[in-house]
Amino acid sequence: MEWKINPQRSVPVYQQIMEQVVEGARQGELLIGERLPAERQLANRLGVNRSTVSHAFEELVALGVLTRKTGSGTYLNAEILKDTAGDWRYFRNPKNPFERPNAAGIKRLLQRGTVIDAYTGELPLDLIPRIALPNFSWQDFLQAEQLEDELGYLPLREKIAVDAGVSRDEVLITAGSQQGLFLILQVLLTPHTKVAVPLPSFFWSLPIFEATQIQRIGIPLNANGLDLEILKAKVRQQQIKVLLVNPNFQNPTGWQMSLAARKELVAFAKEQQLLIVEDDAFSQLSFPGTPILPTLKELAPKQVLYLGSLSKIMGTTTKIGWVIAPQAIVNRLAEARTQLDFTMSIFPQVLATTVLNDPTFPKQLASLQEELARRNHEARLLIEKYQLGQAWPAKGGYYLWLDEIPGGMSQNFFQKMMKKNILAAPAFHFGSPSAALRINTARLNEKTVKKFMENLGEILPAKD
Ligand SMILES: Cc1ncc(COP(=O)(O)O)c(C=O)c1O
Repeated sequence: MEWKINPQRSVPVYQQIMEQVVEGARQGELLIGERLPAERQLANRLGVNRSTVSHAFEELVALGVLTRKTGSGTYLNAEILKDTAGDWRYFRNPKNPFERPNAAGIKRLLQRGTVIDAYTGELPLDLIPRIALPNFSWQDFLQAEQLEDELGYLPLREKIAVDAGVSRDEVLITAGSQQGLFLILQVLLTPHTKVAVPLPSFFWSLPIFEATQIQRIGIPLNANGLDLEILKAKVRQQQIKVLLVNPNFQNPTGWQMSLAARKELVAFAKEQQLLIVEDDAFSQLSFPGTPILPTLKELAPKQVLYLGSLSKIMGTTTKIGWVIAPQAIVNRLAEARTQLDFTMSIFPQVLATTVLNDPTFPKQLASLQEELARRNHEARLLIEKYQLGQAWPAKGGYYLWLDEIPGGMSQNFFQKMMKKNILAAPAFHFGSPSAALRINTARLNEKTVKKFMENLGEILPAKD
């Protein structure tokens, strides 16, 4: 931080120093717990007497802004500024919750463009449905704004409500379903609330839990499904209030919760007043032949908050998601969003309405489902052929969970994959210590799938 005083000002020099400390803290130039320059050093830098700096520091100590530690120096105090300087939680957290493991290496590799990418959680461009856009003018968008309120663009809310069999007043459009999840955690729950989260699960890769200080409690998920007995025991013992679950074609395992498990879960949730947040981002990507099961929301409308998204079909940049919830909750989330100024742009909402109402969309979706199943099957055959581990069954979505990889999953293994120019997401990204990888088979076409599996096989320890 740049220290300076202005001799022209009528404010005494020691007060100017005080102002700079407080302003530096507010602007984030001085961090909580940061050591200030030694008095003598700062006095030399500013060309003032040491006693002037001492005076300023003493005043700030008296106000609680600074603390002195004998023999070690003067520090910005953690407690006093937390109310005045916005949210300082991150600065007190030595770990940056927004840092993703291996992020820099992955980004570099993806930018180079030579890697076979089964890591990214999106469809490849050639599988995204082709929807022709009508010839909108700027004025058309501005006019569409007349149909927008705090809950979102009315025609889009209506379309989603009709498809889900709910009232449009129960639908809130969000900038992606993660915004919906963030609002639910931030607005409806208090910090330190315990939330049950399947393990492995995509929810372990999200920084919003650290950001909201919501505590995740892992519930094991294995090839047979979520362990409901452990869930029940933990809910009873640990006062868990909420379950987050992704029951259709789960990220990262492709698991689909059975109808019997759904019924058992909602019955237990009702009995225990456990709320469920149902993330259904993949629901429209079932493989042909997979039964379309009732959502948890349909089974227990009052107990479940439902999250939908267009990201998994039309791409993450679409930034269109929705929350379906009882009207009072939808209104509360909408109000909070308005206050937080996370309001929605009209553009993606109008475009999403066009997509969902496009007469070719259902047919394109059906071909997409077939292609996803085909790619998943192809990858499975090669996994068996090269004996790369155990592929969990998947009934939809784009992920294949390759478990029991010989030699285990580690940072070292991941680095070797990067060297071999193949990328998939290791289990530890999803909170799991398993010897497993999430492979996005949707991104592996007939040209790349064999190479991917061959290269993966070359990393495994040699068989005897
Ligand atoms: C299960 C699940 N839910 C939600 C999302 C995020 O959706 P959105 O882009 O709408 O925030 C993802 C993206 O990876 C996901 O896998």
